[in-house]
Amino acid sequence: MPASDPSQAPLGVFDSGVGGLTVVRALRELMPQESIVYLGDTARVPYGSKSPDTIRRFSVEDTQFLMGHGVKAVVVACNTATAHALPLLQATFRVPVIGVIEPGVEATLSDPRCERVGIMGTAGTIRSSAYQYALAMRRPGLQIHASATPLLVPFIEEGWIDHPALKLVLRQYLEPLLEKGIDTLMLGCTHYPLLMPVLKKMLGKKVRLVDSASTCAAHTLRVLEEQKLLRRARSKPVLDIYLTDLSEQAEAMTRRFLGADFGRVKKASL
Ligand code: DGL
Repeated sequence: MPASDPSQAPLGVFDSGVGGLTVVRALRELMPQESIVYLGDTARVPYGSKSPDTIRRFSVEDTQFLMGHGVKAVVVACNTATAHALPLLQATFRVPVIGVIEPGVEATLSDPRCERVGIMGTAGTIRSSAYQYALAMRRPGLQIHASATPLLVPFIEEGWIDHPALKLVLRQYLEPLLEKGIDTLMLGCTHYPLLMPVLKKMLGKKVRLVDSASTCAAHTLRVLEEQKLLRRARSKPVLDIYLTDLSEQAEAMTRRFLGADFGRVKKASL
């Protein structure tokens, strides 16, 4: 294989913090042969409460950092950044840029029985109406109930994913959605896959859960296949994790999110 073969290059993934590592985990499960460069903007997290202009500026800087590492494609593993910056990134950079919203929407609508959808996400994601718009465009008449759930990210970052206080908060958030009779709940934040076990327990089988991580990984696989960018080499893939702020807490969270050996976390300067 020639050294300049772009399929050999790593995949770039970024998030406002460590939540996007749920996407990295799903990508590695599906494409264990791919090398990945991950950037978590832990110095500036959260993006969910920032203005659209700031989110776009940060997202461009994050992507520039990954491009500097020679990535062949960029996965925007943050719903907030996808909601506000995806078209700009796709127009600015010369590699495929993949977001987390479209794959979740496609997965949701792949079930023809889906009639009433609930969406949970950060204030920024819900305010952007990106999910609501993408769903309504594809299936007019679909009932969509979106709810900003800003308390969930701090709970998850604290590792309180099975804590009674979290369950109390979740019940408050879920009640109005359940009253509307939702049949599907979209987890519109890359932190939320960590809530799958508790949500499954609380909701049982009557509500289908769609998360951003596994759906985005499946979509990325399709894009890499189409663009002939899948890495076929037999050498060991590399996972490089960069954070813009290094702290013990960030390392502990990285471990929790990735659930695997990941080597050393490095400091990124944007
Ligand atoms: N990972 C972000 C997202 O998916 C949530 C954290 C933040 O607010 O930056 O929207």
